[in-house]
Amino acid sequence: MWAGWRRRKSWPGTWNCGLDALLDVGSGLGGPARYFAAEHGCRVTGIDLTEEFVRAADNLTKRTKLDVGGVSTGSALELPFERDTFDRAYMIHVGMNITDKAGIFREVRRVLKPEGLFTIFDMMRTGDGAIRYPVPWALSEETSFVATVKEYRDALQGAGFRIAEERGRGPFAIAFTERMMARMAQGGPPALGLHLLMGEKTPVIVGNILAAMKEGVSGAVELHARACNPTARCGFGLAPEATPYNSEAKPPTTSARRYALWLVKKSEVEYL
Ligand SMILES: C[S@@+](CC[C@H](N)C(=O)[O-])C[C@H]1O[C@@H](n2cnc3c(N)ncnc32)[C@H](O)[C@@H]1O
Repeated sequence: MWAGWRRRKSWPGTWNCGLDALLDVGSGLGGPARYFAAEHGCRVTGIDLTEEFVRAADNLTKRTKLDVGGVSTGSALELPFERDTFDRAYMIHVGMNITDKAGIFREVRRVLKPEGLFTIFDMMRTGDGAIRYPVPWALSEETSFVATVKEYRDALQGAGFRIAEERGRGPFAIAFTERMMARMAQGGPPALGLHLLMGEKTPVIVGNILAAMKEGVSGAVELHARACNPTARCGFGLAPEATPYNSEAKPPTTSARRYALWLVKKSEVEYL
């Protein structure tokens, strides 16, 4: 990507990162980072615990010839960055694998600038009842650390964030998963897809998460949090500008990648 794009006043589309530094916590194969770079000129720094994913992400990014930023191996619980490095951070489907949520949030707060925005999109526990395994993030209960929205909220506030918005994304995630299952039933999996990671158990894995969502045991939830400014009062609970939790809200788009983009774009528009 031509670096000059980033300096343009407006990126084609409606929102651009400008010179903002963006952190992707648990960047995986780098899909979200490439998306933000390609569509909105973002410079993204990714960090992921799994070295193979980091290598694959690097490889895929080189093939696209995108100027993304960079991904490296490291833990969300010990981020290898200086204090106040990033303007924004996001974490997509990572928290279910990490028991110490407070530890992640403390680290993200440390590397975010004051008033920096942190967006989370995770599967959270939304009701009682058992989750059947395997699910996309864990083969068994031993490696699954699904937490409630309240646990996320408390951990964020304890780490020095104020919650700007919470939204249940259940209907969006159910519709997305149902479409994926229908496509698989019709013509088999696409040449490139999640089944390459999940293997032959993909239909069972996807079926289990769909069941958990439909039974109300687990659901996709989006949280936006602002890093408190140490020199000002941060407050607890929802920020004055917050939108209350709304599980009926319609998604702006049905594509997961576009949705991830919307999270950041929306935050830019509504909370700056
Ligand atoms: C379901 S993937 C999501 C990847 C990416 N966020 C995406 O949406 O495409 C979860 C990722 O979290 C990473 N992960 C798990 N524990 C981590 C930790 N403690 N620190 C950093 N990354 C971690 C895994 O290696 C994996 O790549």
